[in-house]
Amino acid sequence: MAKKDEVKSQLRDRFKKGVDKAAEKYVASISFDWRLYKHDIAGSIAHAQMLAKQELISKKDAELIVSGLTSIREEIEQGKFEFKPELEDIHMNIESRLFEKIGDVAGKLHTARSRNDQIALDMRLFVKEAVSETVSQLKGFQLALLDVAEANKTAIMPGYTHLQQAQPLLFAHHLLAYFEMLQRDVMRFQDCLKRTDVLPLGSGALAGVAYNVDRNFIAQKLGFSDLSANSLDAVSDRDFVIEYEAAAAMTMMHLSRLEEEIVLWSSAEFGFVELDDAYATSSSIMPQKKNPCVVELARGKTGRVYGNLLSLLTVMKGLPLAYNRDIQEDKEGLFDTVDTLISTLEVLTGLIKTLKINTTQMVSTISGSYILATDLADYLAKKGLPFRQAHSIVGKLVQYAISKDKGFQELSLDEYRNFSPFFADDVYGITVETSVEARDIIGGTAPKQVVAALTRARKLVGKRNEG
Ligand code: ARG
Repeated sequence: MAKKDEVKSQLRDRFKKGVDKAAEKYVASISFDWRLYKHDIAGSIAHAQMLAKQELISKKDAELIVSGLTSIREEIEQGKFEFKPELEDIHMNIESRLFEKIGDVAGKLHTARSRNDQIALDMRLFVKEAVSETVSQLKGFQLALLDVAEANKTAIMPGYTHLQQAQPLLFAHHLLAYFEMLQRDVMRFQDCLKRTDVLPLGSGALAGVAYNVDRNFIAQKLGFSDLSANSLDAVSDRDFVIEYEAAAAMTMMHLSRLEEEIVLWSSAEFGFVELDDAYATSSSIMPQKKNPCVVELARGKTGRVYGNLLSLLTVMKGLPLAYNRDIQEDKEGLFDTVDTLISTLEVLTGLIKTLKINTTQMVSTISGSYILATDLADYLAKKGLPFRQAHSIVGKLVQYAISKDKGFQELSLDEYRNFSPFFADDVYGITVETSVEARDIIGGTAPKQVVAALTRARKLVGKRNEG
């Protein structure tokens, strides 16, 4: 059996002394890249099987390597594996343990491979897995939004621009706006998958490997649909990590807008929604408080996800070809982004599902307001007035109504007609209901359109592949 840490010392044969302790700790990545153990072992197993198929190593050696790797995976999963910082990274930790288990045969595994193509492979396997988990979480969240929208299909709320009451909306229409954003996010992740799904193994350190390897065999074993076309690019490319992080940043941005609305809506001033107790936090001093800390934290965590994207873009900027150790800095940010996004989606799904919706309060904030002013202008325009004139008449009417402290419904027909002879009795027929019903065009808030949008949305979530 080989001695402990033998690989490590073999790798330093060109040096006269060992590495400085602080420097050794500085370059080590095992404290975080241990997370790639499954991907690293899967890649090594496929590589060993390929080496045997190509008669680059014997079948017997490949079997020894594969069973050694399988038992290492079990050790890790049972918490029995000791990760050693002095062995730097996940690759060397596993390889060194393989030496302890099967002796010198372990040294054949790294034939026709470099840590540079090995880590590129591990990262791609990790991102592929992350994409599929993210997409399924996103779809779960979309479904929760659709359930709430459907359960409140007829509820009317004030729509806002500049956070000022603008026009009435169906609450379901408002929620469906978030559905659309998230649908684009799903498509972005699925699109990022296409460029991640490329096998880098075979690129070696940078120039390709000098053995008759079968890259297609490995691609098929590991489920990749394509092979990288340039070895230099393959070992130094982290676009797929950046793309995942960019899609995640966009998703977190979308979620943060909804989170902001939930914070506003759950205030006493709005009172549109109430968080379920399970998703609210208390105050240490004010006994009456029901704080939306969960939602606020989700909004706050958007910052770190943006940060991780910016950090990797900056790491990659100006790097000469091919692999440089700077690239090791891709991992912590990616892991953090994946964990943050997935946990945010998980928590928000539960929160949305249990959210109490106060539809009565939504409509009552509209009563007596001038939210139907556009509908009055449309009324005059439909009677033949140019819209700009109609706008100006209704503007003056609003000013008058405010001065009399009256809502539109409280104005007499004479008062209306002082502003325009086009006003007739049917002006009293304009309500929040007729306002939403009037917007009966594709993409509009009319109940008929919203029902159709809900059906379309359900179909989209059901589809496996978009875009
Ligand atoms: N830990 C390294 C990384 O994450 C693996 C590749 C190391 N390659 C090297 N030549 N030192 O990028």
